[in-house]
Amino acid sequence: MTSTNDEHPGIGPGLGRLEGRVAVVTGADSGIGRATARLFAREGAKVVCVDRLESGEPRVDRLIEADGGQAVFVKGDVAERSTNEAMVAMALERFGDLHVVFLNAGTGIRKRIHELSDEEWNHVIDTNLHGVYHGVRAALPHFMEAGRGNIIATASSYGIIASARYPAYSATKAAIVNLTRAMAIDYGPEIRVNCVCPGPTDTPRIRELPPRPRLLTDEQKARAGQSVPAMHRMARPEEIAYAVLFLASDESSFVTGHALVVDGGQTATATSVSS
Ligand SMILES: NC(=O)c1ccc[n+]([C@@H]2O[C@H](COP(=O)([O-])OP(=O)(O)OC[C@H]3O[C@@H](n4cnc5c(N)ncnc54)[C@H](O)[C@@H]3O)[C@@H](O)[C@H]2O)c1
Repeated sequence: MTSTNDEHPGIGPGLGRLEGRVAVVTGADSGIGRATARLFAREGAKVVCVDRLESGEPRVDRLIEADGGQAVFVKGDVAERSTNEAMVAMALERFGDLHVVFLNAGTGIRKRIHELSDEEWNHVIDTNLHGVYHGVRAALPHFMEAGRGNIIATASSYGIIASARYPAYSATKAAIVNLTRAMAIDYGPEIRVNCVCPGPTDTPRIRELPPRPRLLTDEQKARAGQSVPAMHRMARPEEIAYAVLFLASDESSFVTGHALVVDGGQTATATSVSS
């Protein structure tokens, strides 16, 4: 079995920052969601891991359990309301509460807008924006009744700046940034709402975007690094996960309506290189 530390060497020992909390993480079996689900569990949270696929090997909930944590897996498409209702129900039934939802599942298609089919456009909107909408709708009744809650979504640096050949993706991520602000106003002070805006991050999604091969070549990595003028490299998933952990923990108790940019300086320049 893949050892936890081999897969995510950047995750340190838990400090109990989410002790006693129950968290839902969508898109949990790969990339940023996988690292975050594992980090949340390390920090003491019980984690409901949601994904439409079971592509991680070992699956993320088993990886967490092997690490001494508690997790369950819900298989489903976040674009479906039923998946979101099922993940909240699972948190309440299995773990008896829900404190944090990290609505992270996302996808993108690299084409200019006239090249996108209606199905492709709708697929990106349904996954990225409606996935967040359904997740929030599912969690809010419990959060409002409990008088507290913490919502975190994954936007992108491409919700702040735009990227070439990424119209649906850029539109949904900008929408998530402002949806975050709108919901923070509507549901504060009891419920905090924030999003994280990762820059280029070395995950399977980035590697598999057509026409790229499964693994990035050194040249492609260098090209991705060019769009990160300060750090000259992509992020590791753990580096995004630690930002999400801050938003999920009480350490960020006065942070809401915020888009936390974790991009190695990518948005510090007006010039964006398509990664
Ligand atoms: N990797 C990057 O460079 C980067 C940069 C900025 C933002 N993001 C965002 O981070 C999030 C995670 O991306 P990642 O790079 O870790 O990708 P990833 O492909 O490694 O992981 C995404 C996971 O989400 C799941 N998923 C996708 N659509 C789903 C759906 N409809 N229902 C349920 N599960 C679904 C996939 O099966 C996969 O396991 C996405 O929202 C993405 O837009 C990624």
